[in-house]
Amino acid sequence: MSNSIIINDKISRYNKIVRVSGDKSLSIRWVLFSSLADGVSKSKNLLMSEDVFAAINAIKQLGIKSSINKNTCRIYGKGIDGYRYKKNLTIDAKNSGTLGRLILGLLIKNSNPIKLIGDKSLSKRDFKRVADPLSKFGARFELNKKKNLPLKITGTNKPTSIRYNEKKGSAQCKSAIIFGGMRAEGTTVIKAKKSRDHTELLCKYLKLPITVKNKKKYDEIKISKVKKIKKLNYDIPSDISSGAFFIVLTALSKSSQLIIKKVNINKSRIGVIDILKRMGVKITFQNKKIYKGEKIADIKIKSAKLLKPIKCPEKLNSCAIDEFLIIFLAAAKANGVSYFTGLSELNQKESPRLKWGAKILNKMGIKNITTKSSIKIFGNPNLYIKKKIIIKDYLKDHRVFMTSVIAALSFGGSWEIHDKDSIQTSFPNFLQIINDLKKG
Ligand code: S3P
Repeated sequence: MSNSIIINDKISRYNKIVRVSGDKSLSIRWVLFSSLADGVSKSKNLLMSEDVFAAINAIKQLGIKSSINKNTCRIYGKGIDGYRYKKNLTIDAKNSGTLGRLILGLLIKNSNPIKLIGDKSLSKRDFKRVADPLSKFGARFELNKKKNLPLKITGTNKPTSIRYNEKKGSAQCKSAIIFGGMRAEGTTVIKAKKSRDHTELLCKYLKLPITVKNKKKYDEIKISKVKKIKKLNYDIPSDISSGAFFIVLTALSKSSQLIIKKVNINKSRIGVIDILKRMGVKITFQNKKIYKGEKIADIKIKSAKLLKPIKCPEKLNSCAIDEFLIIFLAAAKANGVSYFTGLSELNQKESPRLKWGAKILNKMGIKNITTKSSIKIFGNPNLYIKKKIIIKDYLKDHRVFMTSVIAALSFGGSWEIHDKDSIQTSFPNFLQIINDLKKG
């Protein structure tokens, strides 16, 4: 029970300014790029969570040192060919799909076979989606049950460029191929369905040989072999995916207001804002600026008196992909039926999240019709839960835990939510911020 949380009360009104922790996607990418840079790279506000520590550990396995002192992390890169491949090397990506998939792109040139493992959740996830394109560079893969971890990758000493059509809209696949392309002779060409573009922006900022053409439905990315990466000092902006829990909490609460400072508002990440605005939530950006190619702003949110239902356009799916669980809570309180389609990728996450979204709504007494790729949610603006709800056995998916906490604080009832430690994956101070908001 000590790893559970009990919530019996709704949150009362608050008016606060908060800062949430560093962006997970950027933190992991910073670690990986810096590990191949020449010299010492420094970051501030790096997300100090298990996924990022797994990335730091992975590069340590490859002979790259790092140090952490308060809010500053240093990585002592040894150049683009600076990894050391020991015999019988095992890299543990723990819970992180981003680390597990991206790092494989960097390992296509390894001289010894490397084993990649992960925790129970990651070991259920699809790695064929990266093994297939990366084997075209010349690397060899052995996958468990043909698609899962543990896997073994054996590199080639002369990877050659590829052409690939990425159709899932997966930034992890796209980024793994970009990393592969950085190591291969010639120019790799990727036609990629739209997804978050942090890897491309970092490549551009580092002046690596990349070009990106943004077409309406896809991007065309060309990346050539990289000879040198300069050191990368980076002040990591806050994570919209962490901020989203408080954005929705505020939208659902009565007469509250919140400002979240210095959040990454990259267009490929702010689907949640777009969706909530369409549902009638008042959200504004303040103090906008560009930092190393990324857009940053303070986000101001006010409680919504009435939430409108939404028929969510599929073009918003990839830029809200990590936020759907929390968006479903907004739909639960909307004044009508909301409909989300084209979401089969949601069941490929840390847990089958579309299923879990439906499960949480069922427990809350919200009617929904769910298929493998869609969910129809019958909202109830007067939703008030009176019963006991237990949330457990959800593969420790951090976003299931945090969504359940927000549901408990927004709709009442008596909630027992297991596996509190899951927040260590992406947002260790989530509960501290909740406690701060509870003070009003
Ligand atoms: C991520 C991409 C997304 C997202 C994940 C982080 C990234 O996954 O769900 O949390 O940092 O590239 P997919 O690319 O598989 O959609």
